[in-house]
Amino acid sequence: MAAFTADSLKPRYHSAIVDWQKKNFPELELLEKNWSTFFPGQTPFALIAKIGKVKSDLIEYGKFAGQPKFEQAGKMAGNMFYSARDIIKAQCSTEFGSVQQHRISLEEATGDEAKYCVMRIMAEELRHAYQMFWVLDHDATWRKLGMGDVGAETMDELLAMKTGEHVLDAFNIEFTQFIDNIVFGALIDLVGKYQLDMQKVFAYAPMARSMPPMFSEEGFHLGTGKRFLREYAVEAAGGKGKWSFPEIQKTINQWFPRGLEMFGNEHGGTTVVEFGFKDKTNGQAQGEYIEEVRQILEHVNLGIVQARNPKHSPQDARRVVNEVLQTGDKVDSVGPDEIIYLPSNKFYRRRGLPEYALQPFNLRGELITEGGKPVGEEAYFKYLATQLPTTYLKCPDFEKFKGMYRKAHENGNGSW
Ligand SMILES: [Fe+2]
Ligand SMILES: [Fe+2]
Repeated sequence: MAAFTADSLKPRYHSAIVDWQKKNFPELELLEKNWSTFFPGQTPFALIAKIGKVKSDLIEYGKFAGQPKFEQAGKMAGNMFYSARDIIKAQCSTEFGSVQQHRISLEEATGDEAKYCVMRIMAEELRHAYQMFWVLDHDATWRKLGMGDVGAETMDELLAMKTGEHVLDAFNIEFTQFIDNIVFGALIDLVGKYQLDMQKVFAYAPMARSMPPMFSEEGFHLGTGKRFLREYAVEAAGGKGKWSFPEIQKTINQWFPRGLEMFGNEHGGTTVVEFGFKDKTNGQAQGEYIEEVRQILEHVNLGIVQARNPKHSPQDARRVVNEVLQTGDKVDSVGPDEIIYLPSNKFYRRRGLPEYALQPFNLRGELITEGGKPVGEEAYFKYLATQLPTTYLKCPDFEKFKGMYRKAHENGNGSW
């Protein structure tokens, strides 16, 4: 039995998404033409909504636990209705946003294999946006008496968003090199996987039913990111490849903080659990995410050690990685500047707890000081410029960060 049933949007929004695709992802045709060459035996892409199964018909978390899940949005009371809409909107914005970002550097792919993997990711993100439209489109109760058609307004807004206008920061950063497509897959799609997993319990049933098919597609996105990230690091270990170790590290430094912030404030998330929309609070999910990123980077580091020492068993390689990390010495021809580090969760933060958001922490999570006091903004920006990709420094996003930072510290508004 299939894991899902298929459905389509009504003509108005189906054609709106097709138009969006023609404008933002015209390469879809190329992908469809060569699908069987790159993904033999795998079901070809289809622009459809996939309605999966829920684990429980009853609400599993929060104040409505034990009651049947909501089939109609209109049955949810005020705050809950809008909170559900905001989550669906944010989810859909990430889907559209990432297609727009991937396209910027798609043609710089390191080969056809990488290019087709990224195009498949783009196609599936497009389908995820379609899926979120289905959630809003198939349920007439998103039109609220006296409040207009919330569903249609949300969809129209989403169709108009460009890079820089999306809901979450990570989707407003223009890609500047192809390794962004890859690191994004490894670190940002990983957050997506957590969100989809948490939303499997969603108290509004159509959203809950949308999660399992999206979740299983997310595995490919994450897998692509992990696979090529390791490949590029192994190439760097052999002195070849397009990116050096510092360049790979800087790309991780650029994306990891934005991934952390996608979970929302570390102390928040209790309301969505109360509404039964997710099964974990922000801090809980973020903690698990950090551990998984650590494992991804370890997998990359094992690849580096084994490239330098082809006879090392995985256990030997793990010992080397740990020794280099702990001692900072060169071990078995792998130097401390030849492995990839997990940045501190305090580094380059713009949202989250005031203890570190918009505060000058370095990669290791230490406050950067001068004469016993935190450094001034210019010195901090200079430090950041040495830890972030050169191509990124010219992006509007870095300027935006500097603006936020200056504003937080003007007139002594900072924490010192
Ligand atoms: Fe997605
Ligand atoms: Fe994804």
